[in-house]
Amino acid sequence: MRKVTLEQVFTHPITQKYLKRSGVAHAIAVAEYAYIFSRRFDVNPDHATKAALLHDIGHYTWYRDGEWDYQLYKENDIHAIKGASRAHKLLIRIGEERQAAKEIAVAVLLHTDSYLPKGELKLKPLQQVVTMADEADEENGGNHHYKEIEEHVALERIRALDSQIDLALSEQIRY
Ligand SMILES: [Fe+2]
Repeated sequence: MRKVTLEQVFTHPITQKYLKRSGVAHAIAVAEYAYIFSRRFDVNPDHATKAALLHDIGHYTWYRDGEWDYQLYKENDIHAIKGASRAHKLLIRIGEERQAAKEIAVAVLLHTDSYLPKGELKLKPLQQVVTMADEADEENGGNHHYKEIEEHVALERIRALDSQIDLALSEQIRY
């Protein structure tokens, strides 16, 4: 049995605060893709969906004169680092197992390499699944961050994911 559900993570005020910044609809879409990819690549669906849901919670708002400044963002962004740290703190606070919290936080840390020195990273399957899920929902010009979703629809989709995860975990006890 999981200690913490996706719904518990999603409805936490800290998650809500940061997801409103980076896009609730994007986070949910990425979690859904992560679930699908986790089944395909034999990765723990609980870890994959939690990392996917939280992958962008480290975003800062790079505004200059009321407009998003892409250049400023490119030069200074560390959202993956910040997100990994926030995700870890949040998960531990709500009772996640330490090993799971670490796996999820590291997947958040490595979901993008835009802030890292050039080179080849050898990602673990969980980290690959989260990166692919994010890319699957990406739109031109960062438009995926601005997609809208109604609150009740968001919660229904999170709950649907929770049921799928529980079912998958009950079938595959090896995770
Ligand atoms: Fe993203």
